[in-house]
Amino acid sequence: MRLALVLALTDASSAYRCGVGALRMQLEGATGRATSTRRFLRQPQGRVATAESPEDNGAVFDESTTFVTVSQLNEVCLQQFRCHSVADDPAPDVDPFALTRDEVSSLNEAVCMEVKGVDEALTASAQHFFGAGNTREGKRVRPVIVNLMGRATMPSTAAGADDDAQQQQQQEEAEIAAKHQRLAAITEMIHTASLVHDDVLDGADTRRGGEAVHKLYSTKAAVLSGDFLLARASVALARLGMTSVTQEMAKSLEALVQGEIMQLQSSAEERLSLEYYLTKSYCKTASLMAFSCKSAALLSGHARDSEVAVASEKFGYHFGLAFQVIDDLLDFTGTSDTLGKPGLQDMALGLSTAPVLYGMEERPELQALVERKFGEPGDVQAACELVLSSNGLKKTKELATFHAQAAVDACCSLPPSPSRDGLIQLCHVVLSRSS
Ligand code: FPP
Ligand code: MG
Repeated sequence: MRLALVLALTDASSAYRCGVGALRMQLEGATGRATSTRRFLRQPQGRVATAESPEDNGAVFDESTTFVTVSQLNEVCLQQFRCHSVADDPAPDVDPFALTRDEVSSLNEAVCMEVKGVDEALTASAQHFFGAGNTREGKRVRPVIVNLMGRATMPSTAAGADDDAQQQQQQEEAEIAAKHQRLAAITEMIHTASLVHDDVLDGADTRRGGEAVHKLYSTKAAVLSGDFLLARASVALARLGMTSVTQEMAKSLEALVQGEIMQLQSSAEERLSLEYYLTKSYCKTASLMAFSCKSAALLSGHARDSEVAVASEKFGYHFGLAFQVIDDLLDFTGTSDTLGKPGLQDMALGLSTAPVLYGMEERPELQALVERKFGEPGDVQAACELVLSSNGLKKTKELATFHAQAAVDACCSLPPSPSRDGLIQLCHVVLSRSS
């Protein structure tokens, strides 16, 4: 109860304000100025990230709110690094999924080992999305970006190093890569736990073309298996032994819950706000990608406030927003066959997403439907027709393209490499996906 009150009084309102920054970026383009001696990092007023070095497992805990995190990200502009246009250039000729095939193929087995418990039903429900060779794996986008970001941020071998030094560096790189792989599995465990719980909250029958865990087992089993996945992910995180990574990933857990609360408790005014929608989308989807990409850079040896760590977090932030905005577009245009879940679900749950909010600019009749959460018979269909008769879907695609380009710009600030190209390729994939 106290948590709910605190969130309502502080984080939810500040989170709402942070959406203004995200929206402004969309409307005017990011305008962050480099005022420090660094290439692009502008430290805002107030609490800022501590300059904890990766080796320093110091006691300082950077306790930041969504508002602070998102404002800091919005203050940083990486447009000057642009090396690729997501709208005009062909996608790089690399396959991000092939580049990470080995790492991702061993993930199922690794997670199944992590979630082996004493109780058979609990183990089975926690392993539901990790059974080898099953079709319930999803796209594994998060493990792919974590592994690619890990490699893209790995320090390059020193030129002219002798054989011994090179051998030692290769060994260190292999150890770091193994940690990236563990982080990728942890990220997917957290994501899966949130989906298992989300399906309970949304009363969803299906997930990834099969029955949702709470339908297959029971609501109690689903709640506990999500908890269990989260518990084992936390243990695995602690085992990584790097305080700064634990801290960043812990923030993603809070953001996920905050996003769900924002979705469940919105006022009519908030449901009409594109800023509120963007903030909620950051919390629900982009935050985990942002914090896990940043954590990959920390594991590669970069300090928390380094340019590389900031660029990694920026990539996850914008990539995640592009991903969620396209997800919301597909809710209008996809079929249950392509999506693995029924379409038009958002409005059925009372949610107003980018297509509706943009559609409302031309079709003011949508406002009343949004305010009453599409709650009267025929509301969902009527709203769908109004959206389709407006430029709502076109503007939604433009919003996603803006964020995909910002994610590409973040990649461009990193040294060129096949992994960087893989991340840029994914920004094309996210815009063209149909499932
Ligand atoms: C899917 O959204 C839901 C999420 C991405 C996050 C859900 C978060 C929680 C339930 C908070 C608890 C968190 C943990 C870590 C246990 P959606 O309903 O819009 O997407 P869908 O259509 O795929 O269901
Ligand atoms: Mg859902």
